[in-house]
Amino acid sequence: MEKLDLSKVDLLEFMKNFFKRRFRTDSPLAFVKVFGCQQNEADTEKIKGFLFSVGFKFVDEPFLADFILFNTCAVRHTAENRILSHIGNLKKLKKMNPNVFISVCGCMVEQESILEIIRDKYPYVDFICGAKSVEKFPELLYEKITGQKIFDSNINFPIYQDCKFKSWIPIISGCNNFCSYCIVPYVRGREKSVDYRKILNDCESCVKNGSKIITLLGQNVNSYGFEDVKFSDLLQKIDKIDGDFTLRFMTSHPKDFNENLVDVLSECKHFSGHLHLPVQSGNDRILKLMNRKYKIEQYIEKVKYARKKLANLVVTSDIIVGFPGETEKEFEDTIDLVKKLKFASVFSFVYSPRKGTLAYEMGDSIPHEEKIRRISYLIETQAKISEDVLSDFVGKNLLATVENVSDDVSLARTDSNLLVKIDGKFTPGDRFYVKILKSGRNSLFGAKI
Ligand code: 5AD
Ligand code: SF4
Repeated sequence: MEKLDLSKVDLLEFMKNFFKRRFRTDSPLAFVKVFGCQQNEADTEKIKGFLFSVGFKFVDEPFLADFILFNTCAVRHTAENRILSHIGNLKKLKKMNPNVFISVCGCMVEQESILEIIRDKYPYVDFICGAKSVEKFPELLYEKITGQKIFDSNINFPIYQDCKFKSWIPIISGCNNFCSYCIVPYVRGREKSVDYRKILNDCESCVKNGSKIITLLGQNVNSYGFEDVKFSDLLQKIDKIDGDFTLRFMTSHPKDFNENLVDVLSECKHFSGHLHLPVQSGNDRILKLMNRKYKIEQYIEKVKYARKKLANLVVTSDIIVGFPGETEKEFEDTIDLVKKLKFASVFSFVYSPRKGTLAYEMGDSIPHEEKIRRISYLIETQAKISEDVLSDFVGKNLLATVENVSDDVSLARTDSNLLVKIDGKFTPGDRFYVKILKSGRNSLFGAKI
């Protein structure tokens, strides 16, 4: 196929006209739904930036839309099933309005098996763009529409943020860790760090435009490296930006999270005080089978050091139950760990075999009902702990940013990511100190000071 050299302006003009003609309107409507992690949220902001640049407005219901886009997740089988059923639901819509344009993007469609399912069962999907190609969404869409390839012109668009005071900044994509249960290294490819100059520029312009919460994103932010700038150097550079904002990052891999990083964080005036450090299991044999490359004692020491150095630190974690061969005793080790470490919250998951991963070859020996029993017990245990952890904050003054306002109560998040309800009507994005007066099961209650 011959390649065309198209400038950004030409591409935009072409797309604008194409969609105008196809949908017979000057302002076409798009429905965009995201599944999965924050990385997907960030990718979606880029795609929405492109759609906005070619004239789309966004709607909340698929049946109102001319253009429908799902940005998908592949981490667990349940997520994939849910997404496929959403795609299935569009069949009727497409029948009623054959003009509607359906696109499916992201991690799920990086897998050959899923592409086959879509070809067989959902042939009305118009366009597919895998997670590794999201940067080239405009070019690939052009190719799909015209059948002509264009030069990789590095066409950039301003991102489209649904929430102006929260910014997701991808700093490293892909993953080299190959945890045995995880599909991410296969669907997102190897680690690639973003030029720190671009990251600094992005952070600066976000702060200038009113962003209050900046979250640096990566499957493993700790392995960031560009030229001689490491993750801790990057944090120090961002911390020098003037302005009223808090700096978060996720996710940290415990094997790479070290004392030096904690020391750097303790000097960062913008550090949020939230650390998401997925432990996955409380048992060394399971951690080894998971290929996590740390022992539980090391993990505990890291959390202890971080808590000693960083006042009011909020630590959260991810845990998988029912990994192949996990015994009752090994599961209890996980329960003992959550009791010992008192995370503020835990995202718990039932193990889901993913074809192509190492763990897939280990079978799926724990029956579904047993996995459900384990996860229920974990959730129940953690709920009490979360309540306990929240109660420790009563009497403290915490910096918080208002996120939602309803009637006379405003819902805010502390920099450390705890939910706090405040009496009174504020504006989303307002940021101030809150005195914590009470605590509940899932949230704090406070007053502006
Ligand atoms: N099954 C269950 N949970 C998984 N996760 C990743 N892969 C799987 C899987 N195959 C969980 C891990 C990870 C989080 C994002 O998803 O806990 O930290
Ligand atoms: Fe998956 Fe492990 Fe990489 Fe996280 S660090 S994305 S769990 S392989």
